[in-house]
Amino acid sequence: MSDLKVLSIIGTRPEAIKMAPLVRLLGKTAGVQSTLALTAQHREMLDQVLQLFGLRASHDLDIMRPEQSLTHITARALEGLERIIAAEVPDLVLVQGDTTTTFAGALAAFYHRVAVGHVEAGLRTGDRYAPFPEEINRRLNGVLSELHFAPTSAARDNLLAENPPPEQVHVTGNTVIDALRTTVRPHFCFADPALVSVDFAANRVLLVEAHRRENLGEPLEQICGALVDLLSRFDDLRLVFPVHRNPGVRRTVYRFLGDHPRALLLDPLDPLSFHNLMARAHLVLTDSGGIQEEAPSLGRPVLVLRRVTERPEAVRAGTALLAGTSRQHIVELATHLLTDDEAYRGMARAVNPYGDGRASERIRDHILHYFGRLPSPPEPFTPLD
Ligand code: UD1
Ligand code: UDP
Repeated sequence: MSDLKVLSIIGTRPEAIKMAPLVRLLGKTAGVQSTLALTAQHREMLDQVLQLFGLRASHDLDIMRPEQSLTHITARALEGLERIIAAEVPDLVLVQGDTTTTFAGALAAFYHRVAVGHVEAGLRTGDRYAPFPEEINRRLNGVLSELHFAPTSAARDNLLAENPPPEQVHVTGNTVIDALRTTVRPHFCFADPALVSVDFAANRVLLVEAHRRENLGEPLEQICGALVDLLSRFDDLRLVFPVHRNPGVRRTVYRFLGDHPRALLLDPLDPLSFHNLMARAHLVLTDSGGIQEEAPSLGRPVLVLRRVTERPEAVRAGTALLAGTSRQHIVELATHLLTDDEAYRGMARAVNPYGDGRASERIRDHILHYFGRLPSPPEPFTPLD
């Protein structure tokens, strides 16, 4: 039997983090020829993840431009991926999540009649503009894919409501937890001197990351205003904010917080530093998807800086709160957690609704089963908590 050819396509930081465990596993699997292609919709933020996890790509489209439009990403990725898929002739293309690279990768594969496997399938808010454009990318991927790897049973139910063949929908857990299990260490030493200087015992650290397109402008100004208010209300607070490289994010964050003595604004951190920083933070405020999945696993309470979330599991478990983007509301919620020990302790519990560290293994086995190389499929992921 000839090797099964799997082409994984990634473009941004979260795709690289979440695909790293799976790409590495496929690379070690007998009978599988695993190839990695980058659109490089992100550049520095992608390269720092690839380097950390030791991933080497066979193709790199290098499409990133400053303040790029969605049309630019879609058009350049689609054209470039067409050539790569034609040259590689894979049996399966794997894409992850909901970025524009994910959508373009699935569409390019479909145009070549190549099967698509979608990792992290089935997340939905039900609001076509939140997150924008990710909600629609997810739905388009639901139509384009033949194998749907839903991280949770809620994601599976969202998919099943859209009527794909049910035997092609699998609950696997999220690969982000596989990655997290390899990075967090109890005695981790930060390489960045600015982080070494943070006294996690004497100060309560607010860890913040916000970058969503729909939050650019006024909502991000409200978020930054809330951070300024919280710093002036609580003397022992220290803010650590690794700022996304999007110039639209950087302008606002530096305008509000650039001069504050207790705000540490950093360039994006590699996941090893970021995950260990999160493990030591008092409270996490974010509009990021991946961070919403990681923080509960580390027992860190999260305020979600969005109107809606496609990740309801942590909110249901009581370890994340939907805070929105109003300055006043964020300040009220954070103040409550910073002043009421019982409320804080109630949220600072480690729960694992998103994965058990074995998602990549399940996805690999589903792929082998789909192509007739494994007699039976793996058991679905079921959370223990
Ligand atoms: C993209 C994804 C979003 C994901 C996010 C992860 C889409 C439409 N959006 O959003 O789903 O949550 O990545 O972070 O796919 N930039 C750099 N260097 C980098 C990365 C970005 O300079 O390494 C700057 C560039 O000016 C770029 C801008 O950031 O034009 C925006 O990048 P882009 O990928 O278009 O959007 P994100 O907001 O990062
Ligand atoms: N992350 C990182 N360094 C940072 C900020 C975040 O490595 O400075 C990681 C984080 O741990 C998570 C992922 O990036 O695994 C989330 O990516 P991002 O927030 O860019 O995208 P989203 O998840 O919102 O699509």
